[in-house]
Parts: sequence; structure tokens; C-alpha cells
Amino acid sequence: MTAEIFSHSPPQKVMNSSPDVLIIGGGAMGLATAVELACQGVSVTVLSRDFQEAAVHAAAGMLAPQAEGLPPGPMLDLCLRSRAIYPDWTRQLTDLTGLETGYWPCGILAPCYGTVPSREGKDDKWCDRNTIRQHQPDLSPDVVGGWWFPEDAQVNNQQLAQVLLQAAQKQGVTLKEGVTVTDLEIENNQIHRVQTNAGPWQAQTYVLTTGSWSQQLLPIPVVPRKGQLFSVQTTIQPLRHVLFGPDAYIVPRQNGRIVVGATSEDVGFAAYNTPAGIQSLLAAAMRIYPPLADLPLEDCWWGFRPATPDEWPILGESPYNNLILATGHYRNGILLAPMTARLISELVLSGQADPCLADFSWQRFPQAQPSLGLPALAHS
Ligand code: GLY
Repeated sequence: MTAEIFSHSPPQKVMNSSPDVLIIGGGAMGLATAVELACQGVSVTVLSRDFQEAAVHAAAGMLAPQAEGLPPGPMLDLCLRSRAIYPDWTRQLTDLTGLETGYWPCGILAPCYGTVPSREGKDDKWCDRNTIRQHQPDLSPDVVGGWWFPEDAQVNNQQLAQVLLQAAQKQGVTLKEGVTVTDLEIENNQIHRVQTNAGPWQAQTYVLTTGSWSQQLLPIPVVPRKGQLFSVQTTIQPLRHVLFGPDAYIVPRQNGRIVVGATSEDVGFAAYNTPAGIQSLLAAAMRIYPPLADLPLEDCWWGFRPATPDEWPILGESPYNNLILATGHYRNGILLAPMTARLISELVLSGQADPCLADFSWQRFPQAQPSLGLPALAHS
């Protein structure tokens, strides 16, 4: 903000004392980045429209670059780097807050049905019919074997959401809940300020972490992809690992809960569970692990994954000098939270983009190029 720019502005009272960084979006990416920046002495404000709607609550918390079958390349590399820093990251969050995240390096088993798949070119660990049952008893007779990914893990995403919130508060981040950004005001190719339902806000640098809702502010191709989930509760957890089946995954928590997910539906923001969605998950999960059928059903819910056309996130610089993007993490948001926070914080602090960010630039999407005559990216 400069005095000169300010003098051109309408006489509206700015609602804040101009933090260094204003983060738009209070989900996992926004909070993780806020904590990282605040730990480095940066003053940060987070504007959150509705914390409860963030994708972090809806996820199952798998840290599964291998079970998800990501092909070799920049996305797998980024996900593996993030998985590698998860133990330290969650430990630091626990040190900051005294709260547990439920990080559990339990490994993931990916059971298969039908004919035994070809192992050509794969160095992953294949378990035959007997071996997979040594890892996890009581699998369905349909399971002919499966892949074992010992380095894949999980975190309790609902605990993580609370830990991130507490860590942000402890580090002095200003959290504004119930604040919807309605407009990015541009001057000289910079965000001059943002308009919200609670008045205008200004900062030196802005970070957009609005996930599925990103298109409400910028014409970047991020759309909601609905996931429905349900849970059952046990007194003694019978599962030792995450089970990543063909049509559902089963995520055991150390507290006895078992989370089952998830549908993947292109239905916009249809905010409800459906009988068809839950039925498909029940059938797929009981086929993998039949004892699930007799456990007490606990809850069902849904969320919206922010999906891009190539299913990779949009990270790094934007068309505007002081706006940084961290959105579109699709199926890997929980996994990528620590690496996203690290890379975005480094960019904010040094002004230098890590070379790996080039593969995740918004510019890979022609429909997001202002030069193609698409809608202006914002109003001035
Ligand atoms: N990460 C799993 C999912 O999005 O369903």
C-alpha cells in the first residue's frame, strides 16, 4: 500500500492494520501457510468464509502418493517430498499446541480382486493371497492379493484442522471467520485491496487458498469434486493399516473409528449425502473387509475437493505482482499441506520461486490467460 494509491481510493475505512500477508481462505492450505509465515515473524491475517466447509474436514487424511497411483513426474515428486516432511511437521505443530494430529505411519494395503495384476516395471511390494492376510486378517475371499505401501501413512484430518487453528492462534495470526472476499481490486497489476462482506482489507502480499471456491475470485479452472464419506465406530480397532480398495478406501483411526471414503462426483456444490453415494461406499467397503457389515454406523458427511483439469494444484505466482496462488489440490490437499506451506512461505519471504513451482503454474491452463481475452481477472 502506498500513500499515492491510497489517495486514489474511495474514502472507505480499511478494516485492518495492514498485515504483511493477507491469506484468503482458512482451510488447510491457508492455515498451514499462515503458521509457517508467522513462525518466521511475518504478520498474517487469514480471512475465512466458513471454516466448517473447508475440504480439510471432509478428507479421510490418507498420505498416499503411492496408493493413489500417481505416475512418476513432478506431482509424485512433490507428494513424496511432502510425505517425507510430515513426521517433523506434525511434531512441530504438536510442540506448538500440545495437541496431537493423529499422524500414524501405518502403511497402506491396496487389495486387488480378479486376476493377479502384472508386476512388470513395478518395484512396489506385491503380497500374495496369504501374505496380505498376514498384514490384515479377515479380508474378503475375493481379495487375491494386493500392493503394500509401507511408507504411505495417515493423519487424523479433523484433529489436524483443530491443531492448525490453534497453532495459528498461538503464533499470533489474526483469524477472521465469517468474512467472504467479494472482489479483488487491481491497480497497476497489483492487488490494491480486497472487498469483503466486512469491509475492505489491505496487505503487502496476498495468498489465495480458496480451494473449490477459487473461481468466485479468479478465472482459474478449479471446480468442486464432491466426495461422500461415512464412519463406523469400534471399541477395539481391528484394522492395522489403511485399506485402499478398487472402489473405496477404509481408514482406521487409533481411537477405534473407521472412516470410509469416498465418492468422486461432478455435481457442483450439491451439499448433501445421497443414498446412492453411501450405498456404493457401503458395498465397496464391505466387499474389501466383510466384518465392517456388523459395526455400528456412526456418521456420514461430504466435502468438495478442489479439482483442476490435470488434477495438479496451482501453486506460486499469479498474474498480479503481489498475489500468490495455492489452490486446486484435489485428492492430495492434506498430503500437500506442509510442502505447500513451505514453498509458498519461501516465495513470500524471498520473492524467489522454488524451481519445482514452474510445473504448477496457473499459466499451464490457456483458459486462465488474460491475454486470450477471457474475462478480466478482477475489477479495478
Ligand atoms: N485423498 C482421497 C480422496 O480425495 O478421496
